[in-house]
Amino acid sequence: MSSLSAKGVARPPGQAAPVSPFTSTLLGEERSGLLQRLVEGLPPEMLQWLSGYLAGLAAQRGPLQESVPAAAPVPQAVPEAWLTIIFGTQTNNSRMLAERLKSQAEASGLSVRLYRASDYPVRELQKERLLYLIISTQGDGDPPDDSRGFVEFLLSKKAPKLEQLRFSVLGLGDSSYPKYCEVGRVLDTRLAQLGATRLQERADCDVDFEPVAKGWLDHAVGRAAEELAPRTSSAVVTPLRTAPPAPKHGKEAPVVAEVLVNQRLTGRGANKETRHVELSLGDSGLTYEPGDSLGVWPLNAPELVADFLSVLSADGAAEITRDGRSLPLKQWLTEELELTKLSRPVLERHAALSKSAELQRMLTPEGAEAFRALLKSHQIIDLLRIWPAPWTAAELVRTLRKLAPRSYSIASSQKRVGAEAHLTVAVVDYTAFGTRHMGTASYFLATRTGDEERVRVFIEPNERFRVPRDPARDVIMIGPGTGVAPFRAFVQERAETGGKGRNWLFFGEQHFRSQFLYQTEWQDALKKGELHRISLAFSRDQKEKIYVQQRLREEGKDVYAWLEGGAHLYVCGDAQRMAPDVHAALIDVISTHGSKSREDAEAWLSTLRDEQRYQRDVY
Ligand SMILES: Cc1cc2nc3c(=O)[nH]c(=O)nc-3n(C[C@H](O)[C@H](O)[C@H](O)COP(=O)(O)OP(=O)(O)OC[C@H]3O[C@@H](n4cnc5c(N)ncnc54)[C@H](O)[C@@H]3O)c2cc1C
Ligand SMILES: NC(=O)c1ccc[n+]([C@@H]2O[C@H](COP(=O)([O-])OP(=O)(O)OC[C@H]3O[C@@H](n4cnc5c(N)ncnc54)[C@H](OP(=O)(O)O)[C@@H]3O)[C@@H](O)[C@H]2O)c1
Ligand SMILES: Cc1cc2nc3c(=O)[nH]c(=O)nc-3n(C[C@H](O)[C@H](O)[C@H](O)COP(=O)(O)O)c2cc1C
Repeated sequence: MSSLSAKGVARPPGQAAPVSPFTSTLLGEERSGLLQRLVEGLPPEMLQWLSGYLAGLAAQRGPLQESVPAAAPVPQAVPEAWLTIIFGTQTNNSRMLAERLKSQAEASGLSVRLYRASDYPVRELQKERLLYLIISTQGDGDPPDDSRGFVEFLLSKKAPKLEQLRFSVLGLGDSSYPKYCEVGRVLDTRLAQLGATRLQERADCDVDFEPVAKGWLDHAVGRAAEELAPRTSSAVVTPLRTAPPAPKHGKEAPVVAEVLVNQRLTGRGANKETRHVELSLGDSGLTYEPGDSLGVWPLNAPELVADFLSVLSADGAAEITRDGRSLPLKQWLTEELELTKLSRPVLERHAALSKSAELQRMLTPEGAEAFRALLKSHQIIDLLRIWPAPWTAAELVRTLRKLAPRSYSIASSQKRVGAEAHLTVAVVDYTAFGTRHMGTASYFLATRTGDEERVRVFIEPNERFRVPRDPARDVIMIGPGTGVAPFRAFVQERAETGGKGRNWLFFGEQHFRSQFLYQTEWQDALKKGELHRISLAFSRDQKEKIYVQQRLREEGKDVYAWLEGGAHLYVCGDAQRMAPDVHAALIDVISTHGSKSREDAEAWLSTLRDEQRYQRDVY
């Protein structure tokens, strides 16, 4: 790593940078002095080891408070040549990979700058020589919220020519969506269009992203070292660094949580089942913030496993090997493989095996719409039944994707519930093609009702969905259906914090009688002054559908006044229909009550989003 100071004056090797005024502001005089004494005279490899150790410690203590490093005016050394890594993420996978790439590159002696896309100053693009972009796809082929501005800029006419730039893109996605890794793909094409040169080919990562990501990362570090080594002033080669200790808990090391409560929230007569689940985190030490989600590792339903065995005419006890692991077929099907969500690779293999012209056409550009409809309407078992194919059990085991965890917004605040996490789960359970269909994780959770039930869980932090730091700020929360879950956590948190800010909830469901989720809790909160206003929209209690956006429009004057007064605005729940409709209603409200043109209302809402006062968690 370069040892140039901000002014470009070389320090003798081994001498650490003096502790900056920022450091003493952040740490206080005493700790800052201790830090100075600790790093004094340490050789570079020890300093690097220490940074890894501290990073590991930070990971163990939970998610980073972004604004601290991001907002701090840290004087940065300006090396002669550096690698810039930009990530765009919703659920932190891309961030985790970008941080790993940074550590690996630094361990190879490279100077690295790492940015979240929303923090990247786009005017610097023309100064970059080497750029790695790690970005996921969200919504229906959309960028993650933190990357919208960056992606819009790159795709706009304002984007500069980038002939000086070498780059590579790692896309994250899920092949059960029609627009698989769309954002990575589009940016890869656009950077090349702007004149930049690919340093290595783009890679697209599916839900089980580790193997592809690892290959791309390792190669990316090697290629970056080749590019930068001759120009990196210090040309330090420090290939081996003690890896930061792995975090104690996470996706790959879940906590086994006991189910304390599992009760139906929806009443008799409701045509869907939504449940309240309380989990004990025991003495795991697992902590979360309101706005975070809980990752849940499910097991497949025994009924569905039996259906697969029957369609395959296979023996569940038969040993099958995949990736060097041998397990009985039944165990593969129950614990390891995705049995519900259809994805493109599975369809490709099934279309070939079944020799179905209809399926094969869906995989061509002309069949795109039919493919999209198939992904939405058919589970894997439907494919096997409707278009029979001569699968062997072994081939199916090797073709199906690995079972992926599902996310659930946490519906509680630890300030109120301590070592528990509460969830609000809509159970996917419907009939199609004459048979009952269940959603893997929601059904799994719904059926954990016995004594001593256990669920493997981990925290998925979401720093972009947080109550205001200032408890005096008002909040407007729009959460129909299970979208209400994080707002239960928000209201608990704000009540426990005791701020002066008001809380206004917009909630909607089909029927008042059977689907007013947490009705008594809201009424109680209103009485106690923990909730200040509630606006309800029950869609099926009258002839015309009424949705939350109608209430937003009706109460637009007050909504606008709250926003003008500095309120934070949150939307959670359905991404496909509700979130865009609510967005459109907000534009109407702002334009009507703020006397603004549509463009100005759009711009006003965008500013709110940039200030993180309009935050969404939609799925
Ligand atoms: C950040 C985040 C937070 C979330 N929070 C919550 C939450 O608080 N509460 C909650 O209930 N969910 C929440 N979800 C959704 C949740 O993660 C699951 O996607 C959902 O429970 C369905 O998963 P499953 O395993 O039960 O169904 P899957 O096994 O994934 O579904 C299988 C297939 O069934 C079909 N299908 C799925 N749903 C339906 C449906 N309603 N009608 C018809 N067909 C369908 C589709 O073809 C799908 O591919 C959240 C998602 C995200 C990303
Ligand atoms: N794949 C699918 O076909 C499908 C279907 C339903 C839900 N989901 C998903 O299932 C999960 C849980 O859903 P949920 O049961 O909690 O709630 P939900 O389906 O989002 O329903 C909650 C309320 O929102 C209403 N709603 C429907 N369209 C709306 C719109 N455009 N704007 C505002 N409100 C709207 C519903 O009314 P009505 O139901 O009366 O229209 C209902 O009253 C979500 O992830 C959702 O995306 C998927
Ligand atoms: C609501 C939602 C929508 C998604 N839409 C897409 C999509 O359109 N295309 C795709 O390839 N992946 C899609 N994904 C999958 C994510 O890209 C994938 O989970 C990825 O690993 C997330 O990375 P991140 O944590 O860095 O955001 C979607 C995921 C969610 C939760």
